[in-house]
Amino acid sequence: MLSAGKKIALISDVHGNIEALTAVMADIQAKNVDIIINLGDSVGYGPDPELCIDLLEQRCTTNLCGNHDYATLHHAEGFNPVAKAAVDYVREMMRPAPDETDTDKLRRWKFLENLMPLYELDDFEFMHGSPRQPITEYVLPSDPEMDPFKLESIFSAMSRRWAFVGHTHFPGVVEDDGDMFIMVDDLPDACYPLSERKAIINVGSVGQPRDHDIRSCYVIIENNLVTWQRVEYDVESTVAKINAHPILDEHSAYRLRLGR
Ligand SMILES: [Fe+2]
Repeated sequence: MLSAGKKIALISDVHGNIEALTAVMADIQAKNVDIIINLGDSVGYGPDPELCIDLLEQRCTTNLCGNHDYATLHHAEGFNPVAKAAVDYVREMMRPAPDETDTDKLRRWKFLENLMPLYELDDFEFMHGSPRQPITEYVLPSDPEMDPFKLESIFSAMSRRWAFVGHTHFPGVVEDDGDMFIMVDDLPDACYPLSERKAIINVGSVGQPRDHDIRSCYVIIENNLVTWQRVEYDVESTVAKINAHPILDEHSAYRLRLGR
């Protein structure tokens, strides 16, 4: 159980969207949170990866590695062309030269290199993807119905009772032996009370929501109650930056307007 009185904010999938991240950080600040954990994909798709890294570095207690962060450092294997182009662009812009003297550039690259795949605290474990493959594997809303064996294996890989993930950009819960993915809309007041039952909880996305709600999504845990938060931000500013960008794809802007 979480130490009494502690309040944790969980954010994920910021994807270089500084307007969304700034709005979420203001919301978190107003809620007197003790710890902020970032579940990864800080870069990719969006126009402001550097500003996002600066704010995440300042404000988050722990920053974890997502598949886009990993791909920026290494290679974008298995990415669709839009995602790959964005990751290749971020790498080109951010990777320090061998004789680099720009200290901000060196610091931001070090931030990416230092991202951990997994973080554990009390009865919680935190990662971007899944407890079995923390950086890359998706826990899909369709898994309980379509691939129960995969979920069984993922649950058996858990070292704590509750795992918190991002990656799909789709907020909700899957419980051990559950026969369906529980969508946040089906939870009273967008709250999930943690019980004895093992569960994998998706915190949603700050910078690119895909559940048909264009507002940023994140989670607060307090007194073993998980509550999803939605925060409005200036979507059109981000859309305008992506559309004016020489490399980023207009589809990445279009989907922000639709939340999918
Ligand atoms: Fe992502």
